[in-house]
Amino acid sequence: MAATKDQIIASLRTAFNMEIETVINYLANSLHLEGVRAEFIKQALATDIQEELGHAQQLGNRIKQLGGAVPGSLHLKMTQRSLEPPDDTTDVVGVIKGVLQAEEDAIRHYKDIIKQTDGEDYVTQDLAITILGQEEAHRQQFEGYLKEYTKK
Ligand SMILES: [Fe+2]
Ligand SMILES: [Fe+2]
Repeated sequence: MAATKDQIIASLRTAFNMEIETVINYLANSLHLEGVRAEFIKQALATDIQEELGHAQQLGNRIKQLGGAVPGSLHLKMTQRSLEPPDDTTDVVGVIKGVLQAEEDAIRHYKDIIKQTDGEDYVTQDLAITILGQEEAHRQQFEGYLKEYTKK
C-alpha cells in the first residue's frame, strides 16, 4: 500500500539516521582494529565511509525536495549494537559480521521504501533502488571477506 508524503519523509529520515550511524561505526572500526589480518578490512571500511556518507547526502537532498527537515545530531537515534568496536582489537571476523548485519538492515529498509513509494513517488523509489544496489554490493563484498577470514 502506498504511503503518504509524511510517511515517506519519515522513512527517509530513518534511512539518513542509519547511514550516519554506519559512517560513525565504519570510521571507528577502521581505526580500532589492529593486526596483520586487520589491515585490509580497515582499508575497505575507510573506503565505504565515503560511499555511506554519499547515501546520507542523497537522502538528505530528497528529504529537502519533499519539504522535510534533515535531522541534526539531537534528532538522531543510535542503536547499531552489532558494530560497536569489539574489546578484542584483533577480532576482524566480529567486525565483518557486524558490517553484514548493518548492510542487511539497510537492505531491508530500502526494500521497505521501494514498496512504500510504489506508484506514489517514483523519484524516491529510484533513489532507494540505486542505494539498494550499492548495499547489496557491499554485502557481497563482505560475505566474500567472511568466507576467506573464517576458512580453516
Ligand atoms: Fe549506505
Ligand atoms: Fe553499505
